[in-house]
Amino acid sequence: MNSFIYDIPTRVYFGENQLGNLGAELSKYGKRVLLTYGGGSIKKIGLYGKIVEEVKKAGLELFELSGIEPNPRVSSVNAGADICKKENIDVLLAVGGGSVIDCTKFIGAAAFYDGDAWDILTQKVTVEKCLPIIDVLTLAATGSEMDCGGVISNPETKDKIGLLFPVMQPKVSFLDPTNTYTVSKYQTACGAADMFNHILEVYFNRNQDLYMLDTVMEGLLKTIIKFAPVAMAEPENYEARANLMWTSSWAINGFVNGGKMQAWSCHPMEHELSAIYDITHGLGLAILTPRWMEYTLDETTVSKFYQFGCNVFGIDPKLDPMDVAKKSIEMVSEFLFHTLELQNSFTEIGIDTSNFEVMARKAVMLGGLAYAFKPLNEDDVVNIFKMCL
Ligand code: NZQ
Ligand code: ZN
Repeated sequence: MNSFIYDIPTRVYFGENQLGNLGAELSKYGKRVLLTYGGGSIKKIGLYGKIVEEVKKAGLELFELSGIEPNPRVSSVNAGADICKKENIDVLLAVGGGSVIDCTKFIGAAAFYDGDAWDILTQKVTVEKCLPIIDVLTLAATGSEMDCGGVISNPETKDKIGLLFPVMQPKVSFLDPTNTYTVSKYQTACGAADMFNHILEVYFNRNQDLYMLDTVMEGLLKTIIKFAPVAMAEPENYEARANLMWTSSWAINGFVNGGKMQAWSCHPMEHELSAIYDITHGLGLAILTPRWMEYTLDETTVSKFYQFGCNVFGIDPKLDPMDVAKKSIEMVSEFLFHTLELQNSFTEIGIDTSNFEVMARKAVMLGGLAYAFKPLNEDDVVNIFKMCL
């Protein structure tokens, strides 16, 4: 087991009726607030009005950037950074899903840089400072509310790049499950697929590990399997929405990582898909996940699949380990494509073979797939893509 530092410096206000604390939290960082949000869902659900009221009540000055896209673009980062510089913004208030929070993180960083924010993503310049970020989460999926990462797209270069900088960690996150009641069945399913995969990316590893963390991850996976279908069937089921929301944060906030030194597998591949085809991140992951599992299953990896199958899906441990492993992959497909009702192939969502090589090259280069659970080269990635057709 590797040594590690545990440090998750985000204060979380979890549950209903916590927005009364927003003004005081914002005020700790200054008077001039930039509110960032997406295409308008926060207005439809009545959250916008409540936020404006709290900000005004605290005597703060409010500026706005709206229209942040799903798979947020660097143009939005630049637009936000311009407002920060022009208006001397003190603190950022991101209200939305992962896209809004990710974009806001890079706005906070780009506020201290005079060039194109894309220079940050391509690592021409590094990030040492970031404006403080407070968020109100409206979609349980990415965990951006409690991690220091963000993913930004550039439609001109067809790149989508994710980076982590500790200074971009949100200072405060407001996690009210009722704010996710209006998330569509489809986005709920995509969010569940995303957090499910975040856990698998860490769970499937070859490091000597803490048994305790594996057990926590199995519990998180079981929570998603139990509550995602409930939230889809009953969008206003508080228990289901609350369990999903807290799972999304803990899947990726660093806790379950416990010092493991391994590159992720499906995420680098998916980011190339959404870079070119602008698909929903969780959907891309859902299609890739069982194929990646099938591709990585062999005599050297079977024991982890066996553990997963027995402990997460309750498959009979007396069965042959390889049979348990194969059955576990079938159960993952069953969950993603039947229970969550997600489309199950590239063909169904209009992706053909034409970009496989270029996407594989970038996924290996940017994602460090040579250091993944099963090391993957460009040919391996193309093979996995072909399995998804
Ligand atoms: O734009 P609005 O109008 O707000 O609508 C959004 C958007 O259309 C809608 N939505 C959000 N909350 C809602 C709602 N609709 C109704 N009611 C609500 N309460 O949902 C749509 C999708 O929103 P988005 O923020 O794009 O989804 P998600 O949270 O899944 O974020 C996806 C982005 O995060 C990145 C992904 O790559 C993708 O770009 N990721 C970020 C990570 C991180 N920061 O750690 C890790 C992830 O692996 C992921 O890569
Ligand atoms: Zn993800």
